[in-house]
Amino acid sequence: MSSRTRLTFHIALPTKPTKLTIQITDPRSTTANNLALATWGSSEIFANQLQLLPVPDFTATGPGTEIFPILELGAGTGLVGLSAAAIWCQRVCLTDLGPIVPNLEANVQVNADMLAGFGGSAVCGVLDWDVPDARILECGGANDGMMGRARVILAADTVYSEEHPALLTKAVMARLERGERARLVMCHPLRIGYLDHIRDLWARLEEAGLVCVLEGRESLDQSWEEDTPYEWCVWRWREELWQQQRV
Ligand SMILES: C[S@@+](CC[C@H](N)C(=O)[O-])C[C@H]1O[C@@H](n2cnc3c(N)ncnc32)[C@H](O)[C@@H]1O
Repeated sequence: MSSRTRLTFHIALPTKPTKLTIQITDPRSTTANNLALATWGSSEIFANQLQLLPVPDFTATGPGTEIFPILELGAGTGLVGLSAAAIWCQRVCLTDLGPIVPNLEANVQVNADMLAGFGGSAVCGVLDWDVPDARILECGGANDGMMGRARVILAADTVYSEEHPALLTKAVMARLERGERARLVMCHPLRIGYLDHIRDLWARLEEAGLVCVLEGRESLDQSWEEDTPYEWCVWRWREELWQQQRV
């Protein structure tokens, strides 16, 4: 399993050759669920893939609406969510387990000016997938209202135990906007030991009414010294579901 405690990441932008520079505060001393905090390979792949994905439709999200633009689950150091905030010029809520959030908060602070320059912004808070309806602590500010559902949910490398498919599905069901513009975007390494969990997650998402509309595979560059392919995928609600809800 590849991870990094590197502190600066350069992420591809649609306006090549300029790159986005994301600063990550040193996370090594932080752990949750016996996992030391680090930036995982999925995050780097996913962050660099964002500029190639169709830009989600963020109409009618943000202040004055009940829909938050972007929510990241299991954000870790926040590389993906911070990149999305800059690339899509939106407000992102980075979430993870309690012990991880202080470092996320530090990463929000250190990148705040950069995000503002792109027209994006970030907040963060606790969201345990097992208690997905709980109020996300830091997202009740005046500009955010109560954090309810999100137009776009992001998740990188969040399937590495047999409990995760059910927990993630529960969190997505609780937090993804019910509508035609909602998107779930994920990336995970295709590690042999976790393939059954990933298949299980796909089956549960399909059972819950989501359909994968775009997917692809990428590999890390040689500096990571890893051959594992990474799969990214974009999901939306099955058309008949949101049409039924509109009636
Ligand atoms: C392998 S790390 C990936 C972190 C980051 N997305 C990345 O790719 O660098 C998995 C993340 O999921 C978080 N996580 C695990 N179980 C969780 C749960 N039940 N609720 C919320 N987050 C959880 C962990 O704390 C960790 O930050």
